[in-house]
Amino acid sequence: MDALQTLDISSWTGPFAEDQRRDAIAALESGCVLFLPRLPFALRPEEAPLLTPDLFSGRAKNISLDPSGKLKHASRETSALQAMMQRFASSAVSLVSGLFPGYAATLERARTSYRPVEIAGRKQSPIHDDTRLHVDAFPTRPMRGRRIMRLFSNVHPGDVPRVWNVGEPFADMAAKILPRVKPSSAAANWFRAATFQTRGLRSPYDDMMMGLHDNAKLDMDYQRATPKTEIRFPPGTTWLCYTDQVMHAALSGQFVLEQTFHLDVAAMGEPARAPIRVLEKMTGRSLA
Ligand SMILES: [Fe+2]
Repeated sequence: MDALQTLDISSWTGPFAEDQRRDAIAALESGCVLFLPRLPFALRPEEAPLLTPDLFSGRAKNISLDPSGKLKHASRETSALQAMMQRFASSAVSLVSGLFPGYAATLERARTSYRPVEIAGRKQSPIHDDTRLHVDAFPTRPMRGRRIMRLFSNVHPGDVPRVWNVGEPFADMAAKILPRVKPSSAAANWFRAATFQTRGLRSPYDDMMMGLHDNAKLDMDYQRATPKTEIRFPPGTTWLCYTDQVMHAALSGQFVLEQTFHLDVAAMGEPARAPIRVLEKMTGRSLA
């Protein structure tokens, strides 16, 4: 299986041809990155001043926009920044609901982020270091099996690509790392939820995914030896994947917009491909 599947579309708005929709969902759910080389997110001339790392406050990882419209981690409140991120979010919703009409009923638009800082050489603790291969997992927001899909556009004004590594298939990674993941403690999860450290009760699935995330990042032998493919996403291109399934590492690049979606497993074309179903098959028990 190729890590990348190219889709030749040039509009954020459907309708899209039936064969394009069929290819897109098959590739996405099987763990490919869907690459849209002819789909730029075009900034407006008045948005050019937003292409500066100075807009980032330095706290958290990125500037983010809640679906409610609340901007976080920007160094200053700018309505232009908010408007650009809002427009990107609307474009992303339009594309994803047009390409995956079966998802529409339970697709949840989550956070939008703007990543104006060069990521190569950024100092992060090993657990927060996204230049190491990992699957996404949320420490404070229990997903209980729901999917995490992310869509990215490189809006760099020059010729600087976003460079990723993509690793081995989810099941191969889990077969190696899962035996090392410590079982969760129901009492500790209850305490975290009761003291509002987590937004609701974490399921065994959430603990397992966090364990896979942390153990893979901390294992430098795994990081070195695991098979990986380098992908360069040029400016003016868009890509998306299930980041809870695709082992990915963002190595370098600057000025990327990202939209996160959450989705019920039942809405998938092939629910058996969801990480929760793969892990339940491996462990022989229900995880959420
Ligand atoms: Fe990630």
